[in-house]
Amino acid sequence: MPTVERFGVSMDASLLKSFDGRIKKAGYRTRSEAVRDIVRNYLVEDEWQDEEAEVVGTVTLVYNHHQRELDHTLNDLQHKYHDAITCATHVHLDEHNCLEVIVIRGSSKNVRTISERLISTRGVKHGKLVCTTTGRRLS
Ligand code: NI
Repeated sequence: MPTVERFGVSMDASLLKSFDGRIKKAGYRTRSEAVRDIVRNYLVEDEWQDEEAEVVGTVTLVYNHHQRELDHTLNDLQHKYHDAITCATHVHLDEHNCLEVIVIRGSSKNVRTISERLISTRGVKHGKLVCTTTGRRLS
């Protein structure tokens, strides 16, 4: 069992009121739960600054599949980076639009580069990278 430590936090009353309102809306039962998640998120973001940290990113792309060559380009990119791309899921959103979720694992530097290549592909309407980490370093 990990040791649990308690600590006190001093804060402006109005700031705390806003925080309580926000975390209640988000579904947290206690401030401790919310603070733990915020701290973890802060640390994950920090790990992403380390270019050799092993990270996992999910890239969500929305694009129009009628756009010439776009399907091909996205597919070619995924084959090019097959070592890092763990899996991909394709959803046909409607008659025209496709959504693709691509899971990429590797150094934070590589994952960022691959995701930027995918998101910046001409014709991609919206793309976003969501990051997490494995807690390991690759070198
Ligand atoms: Ni589709």
